Amino acid sequence: MNFGGTLRINKFACFTLAFILFLIIYWRSGGSTYPADKNDLINLKTLLKAAIHAAELGGTKVAEGIKHDMDIKSKGKTKEGVNDPVTVADYASHCTMYYGIRNTFPKLRVVSEEHSNNDPKCEGQKPFETDTVLSNNRIIEYMNDELVFTKDITIWIDPLDATKEYTEGLYQYVTTMVCVAYKGIPIIGVIHYPFPPQNPQTYWGWIAKKTSSNVANIVHREENKEHPRVVVSISHQGKVSQIAKDAFGPKTTVAKAAGAGYKVMGVVNGTYDVYLHNTAIKKWDLCAGDAIIRTVDGKMTTTKGDHIDYSPDTDVKVTDGILVTRYDHKYYLSKISNVLPVTP
Ligand SMILES: *[C@@H]1O[C@H](CO)[C@@H](O)[C@H](O)[C@H]1NC(C)=O
Repeated sequence: MNFGGTLRINKFACFTLAFILFLIIYWRSGGSTYPADKNDLINLKTLLKAAIHAAELGGTKVAEGIKHDMDIKSKGKTKEGVNDPVTVADYASHCTMYYGIRNTFPKLRVVSEEHSNNDPKCEGQKPFETDTVLSNNRIIEYMNDELVFTKDITIWIDPLDATKEYTEGLYQYVTTMVCVAYKGIPIIGVIHYPFPPQNPQTYWGWIAKKTSSNVANIVHREENKEHPRVVVSISHQGKVSQIAKDAFGPKTTVAKAAGAGYKVMGVVNGTYDVYLHNTAIKKWDLCAGDAIIRTVDGKMTTTKGDHIDYSPDTDVKVTDGILVTRYDHKYYLSKISNVLPVTP
């Protein structure tokens, strides 16, 4: 018998086994958190479901914030030492949305308007059960899986859009938003309204696929260009209303509203032809609406006509203002460029 040979084979087998074990352990432990490894994959359909889940859970926190505040007031307690309701609601919504997504997909890059500093109560969110069928969104179950590299995805979160109006009791403008950007391009957007009159309602869009069934089809009307309905921000309307009238003509009507999510949805559902903004705005205010308007073949650009880049390491601020339309974007853009000062 050749013991030496057997021993050699066994040694070799042992070594191979150990090596495989080492690889498995290394792979399981090493790659468990952000950043994703080069070859990690993620399913966009699962991400859409998680995004809806996050926006709706965040919305619950935002709505609870009001009740909490009213409880405090109705019990006649002084508000001393109590955080103001917007801070509480914003934070609770951030925790649910941000850490819900992070703990479900630890390798994913997520950008939120809010932050937590080593707060275990905030960070220890239960992962979402992404296998459950969303009863209001069964349509998703019939869509195809689509795998992409995790490293190419950035999630943008706004846990409470229109915070100022929230404090003023103008709840109709308030939304929570989640956006999935692929290589900087917004491809999935979710906008959730926690309050009446929509109460609660979720809109979503996945580019080149589908929107939620509550997104209406709007017919293009050429004549709207003659008397466009423009929506601008309540907070800085003075100048922008004048710009809209100068650009689009005297028959332009200008409405004022709050919340970027709310205003984009107004263009999506045909209430307005144009959403115009001429000051700086943050990307978490825009990304979800950008994805939804793209899904219905509309456009969001800066007032200079540039698309917004939602890559993770870009500036979170968009300084050139924005123009959102469902139809005739080129036309409105050319009108705007006639009246906006040319920057050198
Ligand atoms: C359309 O959107 C606007 C702004 O978000 C909202 O006020 C209005 O209720 C919506 N209308 C419909 C029919 O959904």
